[in-house]
Amino acid sequence: MTTLTILPAGTTFEAQAGTTLMSALKAAGAAIMSKGEGKAQWGACHVFIHEGRKGLSKIQRTENEKLDALVGVSSKSRLACQATLGEDPVTVELLSFV
Ligand code: FES
Repeated sequence: MTTLTILPAGTTFEAQAGTTLMSALKAAGAAIMSKGEGKAQWGACHVFIHEGRKGLSKIQRTENEKLDALVGVSSKSRLACQATLGEDPVTVELLSFV
């Protein structure tokens, strides 16, 4: 288990390591947008990782290519459907709302 803090609300949840950030956010009831069955096709689940970035799975080519095509990307950017949680606590900022 790890701790997931969701911004801007600042709410904190326990999340299962080894699950995608998207699954953990949905399990926590967070209003995160998804489109395209979580295959990094649309970039709708773009989030900023404020803490715990190194504890997440590494960015793969598909995610990197999609991030390159999005507006507003920073060094904190990840696609929630592609990032898998490790044991380190993560603080994530939701950028889109459903
Ligand atoms: S859900 Fe479509 S890019 Fe993540």
